[in-house]
Order: sequence, then structure tokens, then C-alpha cells
Amino acid sequence: MYLVTGATGNIGRELVDALAAAGQPVRALTRRGELPARPAPSASSPSPASSPSEESSTSRAPLEVVRGDLDRPETLAGPLAGVRGMFLLPGYRDMPGVLAEARRAGVEHVVLLSGSSAASGDRSNAVTDYMVRSEEAVAAAGVPWTVVRPFAFMSNTLRWLPQLEAGDEVREPFPDAPAAVIDPADIAAVAARVLTAPGGQAGAIHTVSGPQSLLPAERLRLLAERLGRPLRLVALGPDEARAELDRTMPAQYAAAMADFYLDGSLDESPVLPTVEALLGRPPRTYAQWLDTHAAEFPAARLASPV
Ligand SMILES: NC(=O)c1ccc[n+]([C@@H]2O[C@H](COP(=O)([O-])OP(=O)(O)OC[C@H]3O[C@@H](n4cnc5c(N)ncnc54)[C@H](OP(=O)(O)O)[C@@H]3O)[C@@H](O)[C@H]2O)c1
Repeated sequence: MYLVTGATGNIGRELVDALAAAGQPVRALTRRGELPARPAPSASSPSPASSPSEESSTSRAPLEVVRGDLDRPETLAGPLAGVRGMFLLPGYRDMPGVLAEARRAGVEHVVLLSGSSAASGDRSNAVTDYMVRSEEAVAAAGVPWTVVRPFAFMSNTLRWLPQLEAGDEVREPFPDAPAAVIDPADIAAVAARVLTAPGGQAGAIHTVSGPQSLLPAERLRLLAERLGRPLRLVALGPDEARAELDRTMPAQYAAAMADFYLDGSLDESPVLPTVEALLGRPPRTYAQWLDTHAAEFPAARLASPV
């Protein structure tokens, strides 16, 4: 049995699908104990997780959905019962407590999601700090582990949604930060491969990127073409960007994002060979991500109320 945390999230949804499509028994953990139906992919594109090349079996295993809260390790004993492999998100209140529950339950392998900034070890950055804290907890837990450190997700494009619903302009705080953004479906495919691999890759740290480095303006141009909308990027200056970050997230995370992408402490522009090395195929392109997710974006500016 595999336990997938964050099963309603960008990676977790894909991982649940990938494991189930490969015939593996899956338990999806959510705080509400429910797994909402996924939006239908755009007609031109099958769900990436159902790619037959990554299935080892054509019969889907039954899916269990369980309730649990990663901020409350005491809620995890039931969900962890009988689990062999666990996919774990980082940054919760008591990561050693979560991992102690996994060890008590006899889990044989934890795949921890982290982030590429963990490599710097800069604990003055609040995001890096919670990634490093989580990696240290998994390394100390006495359960075999593998860490996956992804670059920024293609699904961060969905953060433009409120602006795309209001009009054709997108105000972007990091216009000069290129990134080899990765499809969460590829992160899930890597996690599925590592979880189910014989011998399990214990102790490995995999940093994973997408196949091309793109500036926000290049991503917006591809989105505009896909939606058939005349979208325009409005590049925020550094002061405007900092004010926008402060307005939209807690201060320590606003400072962390500014440190990464305005001060340039994090370079996610290199294209890495890891996904292809692990999966035997290149990572999915941004255009492929857009094909799968186009239906989640408004095709045109919504009419203003008269
Ligand atoms: N976005 C990026 O570019 C990026 C890059 C590197 C690493 N990461 C890391 O990737 C992870 C996912 O990021 P995302 O932005 O794509 O978010 P997401 O996967 O869309 O959503 C987060 C998931 O976490 C679950 N969750 C939240 N609080 C929980 C709790 N207390 N107990 C159990 N589950 C909880 C949510 O489930 P419910 O609300 O349904 O319970 C949801 O499924 C984050 O840990 C982030 O640090 C993100």
C-alpha cells in the first residue's frame, strides 16, 4: 500500500493516478477525507498520468481515501497502517512527529518532496528553512528515504487566474527570472518510479527540472496562443514587486520569494537531465502542460457586469 499526502494537490493528484494506473494499491490522504473529482483535461490531451508507457499494468487498483492532518501527527496512525511507501510533503509543524508515526507503522520508504533551494542550506530564507528542516527530519527518522527537489511548478501559472478572469493584463513580480519549470505530473512520475523501484533509491536526492528555461513573458505568450487571447505582461519593478508580495503572503514568505527571484539567490534556469534519466523519456513541455490544463483558464475576458 502507498500513502499519498497532499492528494488533492498538484503533485498528489497526479501521483494517485499514476500509482493506481500502474495497478498499485493507493491510499489518498486529505484533510477532509474526500477526493474531489478532477477537472476534465482538454480534449486534445490525455491525462499525463495515464500515459500507458508509465503503466506496469492495465488494471487500476482500488483507491482508498482517508482523513488526516500533517500538522497533527496523531491523526496519521490509521492512515499509515499497512503502508509500505509514503509520499510526503514538506514543512508541517512537527515533521519529526510525522516521521515517527511512519516508523511506528513500519513504513519501508518515504519519498519526501522538497525544493531546489534546499541545496543552498540558507536557513535565513523561510522557504529554504522549512525544506531543510523537513529533509533533516526524514534523514534522522530511521526509515529509508529519497528526496525529490523540484524546480518551480508549471502549475504556478494558475496563480495568474484571478488576473485572467479580470482582463488581459498579467502583473508579474519576477519578469526577469527564467526558470526551467516542471510539470507536477513529471514530479509525480518520478515519485512513483522511486516508490515502486526495486531497491528503492534510498538516500538519493533528485533535483528535477522541466525541458526548457522560460521567462514569465514567454510562458504568458504560450498561454495567450493556447487560449486565443491577447494577453499582455506588465513587468513590476522591484519595489512594486516587494509591495505586491507583502500584500499577498506572510512577511517571511514574501521575503523568501524576493530573496530567490529579485535578489537572485535561486537560479532555476538550468535544464537538468534527471527526469529523463529516471523515466527514460524527456520531461513534459510547458505547451503540453497548457494542453492538459487549458480548460482551467477562462478562454476570454469575462464580460463586465452592465
Ligand atoms: N509551487 C512550486 O513551485 C513549488 C516548488 C518546489 C516545492 N514546492 C512544494 O510543493 C508542495 C505543493 O505545492 P503546491 O503549491 O503545488 O500546493 P498544492 O499541491 O496545490 O496543495 C497543497 C496540498 O497540501 C495539502 N495540505 C495542506 N495542509 C495540509 C495539512 N495540514 N495536512 C495534510 N495535507 C495538507 C492540501 O490538501 P487539502 O487542503 O485537501 O487537505 C493540498 O493537497 C508545497 O509543499 C511546496 O512547498 C512547490
